[in-house]
Amino acid sequence: MNEHTKPQSISQQADELEEHMMHELERVVTKSTLHYLAEGKVAMDSSADLWKKHPGAVFNMGPDPRLPQMPEKPTLIDYFRHRFASHAHLLQSATHALKAGHNEKVILACLLHDIGVVSFIRCDHGYWGAQMIEPYVDEEVSWAVRTHQALRFFPDEAAGYKYPDMYIKLFGDDYRPEPYIVAEYERARNHKWYMTSRLICVNDIYSFDPNMKVNLDDFVDIVGRNFRQPEEGLGLDDSPSAHMWRTMMWPNRFL
Ligand SMILES: [Fe+2]
Ligand SMILES: [Fe+2]
Repeated sequence: MNEHTKPQSISQQADELEEHMMHELERVVTKSTLHYLAEGKVAMDSSADLWKKHPGAVFNMGPDPRLPQMPEKPTLIDYFRHRFASHAHLLQSATHALKAGHNEKVILACLLHDIGVVSFIRCDHGYWGAQMIEPYVDEEVSWAVRTHQALRFFPDEAAGYKYPDMYIKLFGDDYRPEPYIVAEYERARNHKWYMTSRLICVNDIYSFDPNMKVNLDDFVDIVGRNFRQPEEGLGLDDSPSAHMWRTMMWPNRFL
């Protein structure tokens, strides 16, 4: 069997498809270093290398045509619908908080607690998520989203939270939080908003039921009252985290 008749491997097929898509598009779509790092490679798409492959090409500087189109002035709900890879867990958490009669800050914190994971990156998702929403929500909400990352590793049985069995399954029984997480927990446990963050954890661990009926529409009013939607569109404003939303909207802009 020679080179030409050998069946292609999955990765060869993927490369070919990507190559084909790049040619189909008017502008060449490139990947960020972070994308390569996540694949275990320290690499980047340099313009010189790209021009060897695509002589004279110009690079994508706007929306990626392969992704769902975002409206001209996107709202948080548009990001839920078009950029968040999954929102069932967030809606389930928020639904638990709503049914338990918690206030709207707690409900919003539950609704947004893992947006770092579903939209952006897993590592330090509480910190990323908090930073994304900080300019648009009450400080208590972003504080709670940030600190849930640490609190979820520490039980508080009086508040109805034990160390989740799922974490033993996910991380192994020998996982111990790093010192920065322990320090975050120690700062948080005497904080005036401790319970807001703890309630994220309490409503979190029960929220992986695939059969629970949830609807984003149930939270549109709570978002409207508690998330300051910028007039220009979320990400097109000048807040300190607008660039993070823009990056989600245009993840393949060359620069
Ligand atoms: Fe989380
Ligand atoms: Fe969660």
